[in-house]
Amino acid sequence: MTRDIPHTLGGSRLLDQPALADERDAWKAFLDVPGPVLLEVGFDHGRRLTATARHHPGWRVAGLEIRRRRVDAVRARAAQDGLDNLFAWRVDARTVLSGHVPPGRIDLVEVLFPDPWWKPKHRARRLVDPPFLQDAANAVRVGGVLHLATDVDHVAAWFDEALAAVPMWRPDPTAASERPPIAQQSRREWRCDQDALPVYRRWARRVA
Ligand SMILES: C[S@@+](CC[C@H](N)C(=O)[O-])C[C@H]1O[C@@H](n2cnc3c(N)ncnc32)[C@H](O)[C@@H]1O
Repeated sequence: MTRDIPHTLGGSRLLDQPALADERDAWKAFLDVPGPVLLEVGFDHGRRLTATARHHPGWRVAGLEIRRRRVDAVRARAAQDGLDNLFAWRVDARTVLSGHVPPGRIDLVEVLFPDPWWKPKHRARRLVDPPFLQDAANAVRVGGVLHLATDVDHVAAWFDEALAAVPMWRPDPTAASERPPIAQQSRREWRCDQDALPVYRRWARRVA
């Protein structure tokens, strides 16, 4: 059962509806296959997702994204390239993490440049907040990893505040080495490189 989360696509209990049983079952079947799981939240064009699946066939690579067109494109690419270790789902990540992941099943969660609502007045709309990080911690195994990134300094400060509120995450920059390596950048990483903008990354480790 999911907790109630305001503003999610169709309400956070949407996924509990019988009409969405097929989607839930497909997700469950994907997670039932053994192997480490990397979850990317808000994958946009999904090139990191497909590159990770292609270069690391031993990993199960999942992406959650609310924009249907992006999800359709990634699914088409995965089918074309035979990437059967990739699962892209059009869904609000908060809903999935709040009640649709077996505890500890995920090894690494990545949320890159999540909040276009970066102004302080938009604080209430941000994705990365303590309840989200608590749900992510429940979904990640002890020893697993969280990767956050932003190019806005006060959003990085929000990340730090939110992480400090969830003791199951311990900041650990060394955890970066555990992300399966890829050369592919996300769209925003690429933009930041082009515009010489700083990128603030936070790596944290799930502790007991
Ligand atoms: C600013 S973009 C960053 C995209 C990409 N991660 C990058 O680094 O370029 C934020 C992305 O997160 C997606 N998104 C926002 N809220 C979401 C949510 N609750 N669940 C899943 N995806 C979400 C948006 O549709 C968008 O593609």
